[in-house]
Amino acid sequence: MTHLPDGPSKDNPYASELLVNRLMTEGSDKETCHFELSLKASGMAYEPGDSLGVLPVNCPEVVSDLLQAVGLSGEESIFLGEEPHVLKNALSDRLACTVLSKIQIKKFNELAQSDQLAALLKIENKESLIDYMWGRELIDLFLEFPQDGFEAQALVGLLRTMPPRLYSIASSLKAHPDEVHLTVAVVRYEGHGRKRKGVCSTYLAERVGESIPCYLHRNKNFKLPENPDTPIIMVGPGTGIAPFRAFVEERRVTAATGKNWLFFGDRSASTDYLYGQEWEAYLKDDTIHELDLAWSRDQAEKVYVQHKMTERGSELWKWLQDGAVFYVCGDASRMAKDVDKALRDIASKKGGMAEDEAAGWVKALQKEKRYLKDVY
Ligand SMILES: Cc1cc2nc3c(=O)[nH]c(=O)nc-3n(C[C@H](O)[C@H](O)[C@H](O)COP(=O)(O)OP(=O)(O)OC[C@H]3O[C@@H](n4cnc5c(N)ncnc54)[C@H](O)[C@@H]3O)c2cc1C
Ligand SMILES: NC(=O)c1ccc[n+]([C@@H]2O[C@H](COP(=O)([O-])OP(=O)(O)OC[C@H]3O[C@@H](n4cnc5c(N)ncnc54)[C@H](OP(=O)(O)O)[C@@H]3O)[C@@H](O)[C@H]2O)c1
Repeated sequence: MTHLPDGPSKDNPYASELLVNRLMTEGSDKETCHFELSLKASGMAYEPGDSLGVLPVNCPEVVSDLLQAVGLSGEESIFLGEEPHVLKNALSDRLACTVLSKIQIKKFNELAQSDQLAALLKIENKESLIDYMWGRELIDLFLEFPQDGFEAQALVGLLRTMPPRLYSIASSLKAHPDEVHLTVAVVRYEGHGRKRKGVCSTYLAERVGESIPCYLHRNKNFKLPENPDTPIIMVGPGTGIAPFRAFVEERRVTAATGKNWLFFGDRSASTDYLYGQEWEAYLKDDTIHELDLAWSRDQAEKVYVQHKMTERGSELWKWLQDGAVFYVCGDASRMAKDVDKALRDIASKKGGMAEDEAAGWVKALQKEKRYLKDVY
């Protein structure tokens, strides 16, 4: 791996022009977008497997709704540490205005003194508190427990610094000089009668041509094999596809001879086949050698990537025996665990191993850096 110089950072981001904003899931009830950002003159040189950190700006409506609910104009002067700011500006891009945490409820209730909130904060009511917080944001506290004379600095005291969001890079710099591409699932949902928007995914989705503050976040643990002959198996349902688009572009541009096998899955073949035309073309010209697709909502029963892995167990086992590196990207909470289980089952069935032996074999694969994860 080449050593790349450090460029812009979280504290000193690069203002990148958002060149392309394309909805990839027309007709689906899911909104997944492809973004292309300019890196011209940024000095930012990424490798496949790295992520892009994005520093979002809160939606102006979210800020004005919060100010109205708290009873402030936004023109108040406040301090962030030692720095003086105008409240509405600080709420726009310096502070996280939407998240709701236990600590915020606790701090809020020191002033609000609500018996209902006090009860929810008791240790024994942990589950009820989780239920209460689900689908709610900070604004709901002010709407449900209206406050008179809540001070601007007290509001700031409830808020934490806006965290950047990471996105797995979906392009190879060699294939797209001066550009970085992302694959983003846009978070929109309704909670307790209000429309909610994921801060960063909607910030990107609702813009084009504007400047996006960003920086590179390196991931040295999710890289293509150094030997270009090594076969790779990539499992990336939903937005988990992102780094594999980068991997395949890189392998194509560098004429790597190792075989490429992709497992992709999403809701429906007709609306959610992310980069479908690219995969079909790559299959035809032998850039990818195996492609297995799992459509979860095109039939009565769920079909997921791990089901496709199981179906192809014999070939998958053979590829692994031939030294393939196995990659998984996407949802950590359920998908990655199920894929891990499918891998252990394949080792057990095809390798003739007992359950604990198969688990040990999968662990060894990880230790050898032949089983790599980028899950979130
Ligand atoms: C290493 C890494 C790589 C990543 N790569 C990608 C990628 O390639 N593509 C991608 O799309 N994302 C990726 N992510 C996730 C991404 O960083 C953000 O977390 C995601 O875009 C959501 O951010 P947001 O600001 O839009 O939403 P936020 O404002 O952070 O809101 C998200 C929160 O909303 C709440 N929420 C969401 N849906 C519901 C619901 N239905 N009901 C109630 N509450 C709900 C949950 O509390 C959730 O945590 C990656 C994350 C990591 C750590
Ligand atoms: N609430 C959660 O726990 C959760 C988990 C992951 C992602 N998300 C949200 O969903 C968005 C990301 O979407 P995404 O496009 O990356 O992926 P995704 O919505 O998680 O789904 C991609 C595909 O994976 C399928 N899937 C669901 N459970 C699976 C499992 N256990 N094993 C294998 N496949 C499974 C989905 O099927 P079905 O949807 O038909 O079941 C869908 O076909 C983000 O907004 C994220 O916040 C939420």
